[in-house]
Amino acid sequence: MGTEQHIERLRLLREEAQHAGSQRAVDRQHDQGKLTARERLGLLLDKDSFEELDMFVRHQASGFGLEGQRPPGDAVITGWGTIDGRTVFVFAEDFTVFGGSLGQAVSDKICKVLDMAMEVGAPVIGLKDSGGARIQEGVDALDGYGRIFYRNVRASGVIPQISVIMGPCAGGAVYSPAITDFIFQVDGTSHLFITGPEVIKTVTGEDVSMEELGGAHAHATISGVTHFVCASEEEALDEVRYLVSFLPQNNMEVPPFFAATDAPDRTIDALDSIIPDSPNQPYDMVDLIEEIVDDGDFYQVHEAFATNIVTGLARLDGYTVGVVGNQPSSMAGTLDIRASEKSARFVRFCDAFNIPLVTFVDVPGFMPGVEQEHGGIIRHGAKLLYAYCEATVPRITVITRKSYGGAYLVMNARGIGADMVYAWPSAQIAVMGAPGAVNIIHRKTLSEAEDVDERRQELIQEYEHAFNNPYRAAELGLVDDVIEPRDTRIRLIRSLDMLRNKRQTLPPKKHGNIPL
Ligand code: HXC
Repeated sequence: MGTEQHIERLRLLREEAQHAGSQRAVDRQHDQGKLTARERLGLLLDKDSFEELDMFVRHQASGFGLEGQRPPGDAVITGWGTIDGRTVFVFAEDFTVFGGSLGQAVSDKICKVLDMAMEVGAPVIGLKDSGGARIQEGVDALDGYGRIFYRNVRASGVIPQISVIMGPCAGGAVYSPAITDFIFQVDGTSHLFITGPEVIKTVTGEDVSMEELGGAHAHATISGVTHFVCASEEEALDEVRYLVSFLPQNNMEVPPFFAATDAPDRTIDALDSIIPDSPNQPYDMVDLIEEIVDDGDFYQVHEAFATNIVTGLARLDGYTVGVVGNQPSSMAGTLDIRASEKSARFVRFCDAFNIPLVTFVDVPGFMPGVEQEHGGIIRHGAKLLYAYCEATVPRITVITRKSYGGAYLVMNARGIGADMVYAWPSAQIAVMGAPGAVNIIHRKTLSEAEDVDERRQELIQEYEHAFNNPYRAAELGLVDDVIEPRDTRIRLIRSLDMLRNKRQTLPPKKHGNIPL
């Protein structure tokens, strides 16, 4: 064969690999409102940046008719490309080939990109759309998942890992996304579960639809498995690009800098009146955060889960920050089990990837109740405490209003290693709220009072005067400065600038023992 014929053969093979799924399967995919794996990669990556790997890989399995069906590339497309010019590794499961099912060839391809991503230090993004372990391949397929899980765990905290669920993801296969840092789900067409509706019906008798069980809303609001819900595949892929813009390539780098158009010395009049006069009246912490960060761009993570705490990424003067804030407009901003888990995981992500943390505090305490106690609020709340204590990134706290008891400490207090603590004049830092405190410390006085209610009111006022302010904490240096709300942006930016070269190391150890 001459060179031209060799090249022609290569072109034909490439053509075959690019159309490995049948037209019927592609049409079916489109009819279900789903894109093909290649169309998805086209939207995710910068134009013409995709470099494909292993498009000639074919499975080596036999039996159950597999030897007669050996499409090039098999059921996953892998490689690397760029997002805003920065390298990312990708794998996109191809439902049009064997239902995207995972056999040895597929897992080999995925493991190769995970290894390469780890070695060069670049994020990895998995687009998931698969019927799970390839049934015909048996234990080879199971082992393939094992090798992927192993790499996901080894890569955790080294490179950002993102999973986008765009179809079925069932059985043990769910544990790969579960280990990654962020999960996106497309509303209506993606489903995640360990056992599907039919098995559940047989075992427990419960009747549940795929959507109710493992749809985007179930996982975004109830289980907390999913971080981001998107209305369409296009939106999901666009959001992944946005998320990546906040992240460093790996744990040895800092996130990219985007020169801000928003002035660093911008004062914010609206903040001076954002705290309501009544201490029990809520306000929206998201509004407060959006006032402060660059251009009001606050990308919430886990927005629909544990809404009593807010977590998300933003920029201050062009630098990425991770923001945590109690949300007074949901359950008065109390900390419960779910809020603790949500924020602890976010704090650990930011710490692993050199993202400074800014914490806004307005917390009346931990959520009281038998359900919370017996559900393990002690060990779950300890996760957030642990996560902050071990974080070595710059950590700044702004106490806007309530900061009571254990929750004061857990929300990044000076005692657990905050670098800077600012308080607004409206801050109330105390062991507990006034009514509860008065009932305990003045029990005898109250029992002897002629007019109990009147006396209680006097004592509450006395307590509030003594404790419901930031000045006692400032006297002790536990608050570095009491600032006017309007100056919060400028003070945060200056502190972050001062802390940019903060270097802190933990004592040598294999790893800590976070209360899981
Ligand atoms: C081999 C599979 C497959 C699988 C689907 N296909 N799943 N082939 N192994 N696991 C094939 C189908 O035979 C079909 O081939 C094509 O993919 C499309 O599948 P359909 O069933 O026609 O599609 P749809 O109706 O959309 O249903 C999708 C589905 C269903 C819900 C995912 O296919 C399904 O239930 N699949 C099995 C799911 C499952 O139980 N997987 C094992 C999970 S346990 P043709 O040739 O007809 O087009 C697991 C363990 C992992 O994954 C353990 C890790 C520790």
